[in-house]
Amino acid sequence: MATTIEPIRKPKIQQTECFIGGKWIPAASGKTFATINPATEEVIAQVAEGDAADVDLAVQAARNALENGPWGTMDARDRGALIHKLADLLTEEFDELAALESLDNGKPISEAKAADLPLVIDCLHYYAGWADKIHGKTIPVRGPYFTYTRREPVGVAGQIIPWNFPMLMVAWKWGPALAAGCTIVMKPAEQTPLTCLRMARLAQKAGIPDGVINVVPGYGPTAGAAVVAHPGVDKIAFTGEHRTAQIIMREAAETMKRCTFELGGKSPNIVFADADLDAAVAGAHLGLYLNQGQCCCAGSRVFVEGKIHDKFVQKLVDMNSGRKLGNPLDPETQQGPQVDKAQFDKIMHYIELGKKEGAKCVSGGKRHGTKGYFIEPTLFDGVKDHMSIANDEIFGPVMSVLRFDDVDEIVDRANNTMYGLAAAVWTRDIGKAHHIAAKVKAGTVWINCYDVFDAAAPFGGFKMSGMGRELGEKALDNYLEEKTVTVAMS
Ligand code: NAI
Ligand code: MG
Repeated sequence: MATTIEPIRKPKIQQTECFIGGKWIPAASGKTFATINPATEEVIAQVAEGDAADVDLAVQAARNALENGPWGTMDARDRGALIHKLADLLTEEFDELAALESLDNGKPISEAKAADLPLVIDCLHYYAGWADKIHGKTIPVRGPYFTYTRREPVGVAGQIIPWNFPMLMVAWKWGPALAAGCTIVMKPAEQTPLTCLRMARLAQKAGIPDGVINVVPGYGPTAGAAVVAHPGVDKIAFTGEHRTAQIIMREAAETMKRCTFELGGKSPNIVFADADLDAAVAGAHLGLYLNQGQCCCAGSRVFVEGKIHDKFVQKLVDMNSGRKLGNPLDPETQQGPQVDKAQFDKIMHYIELGKKEGAKCVSGGKRHGTKGYFIEPTLFDGVKDHMSIANDEIFGPVMSVLRFDDVDEIVDRANNTMYGLAAAVWTRDIGKAHHIAAKVKAGTVWINCYDVFDAAAPFGGFKMSGMGRELGEKALDNYLEEKTVTVAMS
């Protein structure tokens, strides 16, 4: 624990325009939109509201940088060095970036410093290391031929990201795209454009050539849709809601864009009676309440074995009552506001629905304070599989506890969801843990832990939780085309 209280730090707002071809320019329409501080509901800054015209300029800049600029012919190791340099510049501005992220998104600055930024920096270093390790194969074919494959950048990557981990989503998208040699048109979330724009500034300072990274802030149905529709974009990488992904997939079919999707979840967190109880309670608490519950992999269905149910719920209630809500820029704060009014309203609606459907609200359940989009850490006990709160992604600080007594049923109950992003199991029985890990339909399974992320470990969803994998070596494939070359040898 720190012995001195850090002062509350106000970050500077520097970049608010579109970043296209290395230049900061207002939207062609002249329009702007407000990005707000969700803790105070006050406007932080007006940001350029890009649309199809700006996206078109950005795609031209990205295409030009790919085909005519130094990027396309740069030695792979030098490309890697530039990504390392970007990570180094982020490290230099660590405190400032954490404060800016906290201001725009509402996440506690302690979390931005302990989780978001270290993961961002690590992710970029990880992919920097891959830049010169992407290579094809020589393949023994029949006849007097020599066949080899080349792995080439897919081209201009259109990247559309959400607001829950603004900088981390930038790193997950830019890292593999840059390592693969692609150029980028990014559309950050309208709720949280500021840190993405600051990262673009740092990318330029790092020496990444102009036009390689372009950022067009704006709304989904205008700027986002324009990225998806543009024939000059070769690939779409999207993170967000599955309904948005469905719209994108249909639209992308027109131009046969390669698509990868990282979507939502309703992840089961299964706690057996033989688990280390305190570790499981802490893991369930973190797995749901982290980032105000705004995590795609949130452990929102906590299945607890009957024998320990009452004790477990009591410990969860106690943890919730000790949770510190308040100004996200205060280093002592553990929970900030939800990102905006729309999310706040959606979550409050589900809390009411949970009560109406007969679940027992044993902790929280109300707005916190009168200003800002704060919601108390909320816990529903006695949740049944059919209830809305056990099926829909709430994306807020609302945990559902579901009791189980029949161990043979638990896998089916855990899999009884359209999603399949993550799952966790808590037990001291190693055989049982691996059995569940094999049977559960989810892209990530944590055993006796939760929310353990690493840039080297692939992440993504089964079923409606997505398509393709981010992170790890796997994510490079998203940004590469494979070319087969055959040479006659006689
Ligand atoms: P969203 O899917 O609408 O937004 C994500 C991104 O897509 C934003 O940049 C948005 O501007 C863009 N977008 C929206 N419509 C688009 C379109 N037609 N074409 C192209 N781009 C478009 O998600 P939203 O509305 O912010 O949140 C709604 C719900 O989605 C949340 O309550 C949560 O349940 C889920 N969600 C899941 C996330 C995850 O990490 N899996 C992240 C954010 C939201
Ligand atoms: Mg939306």
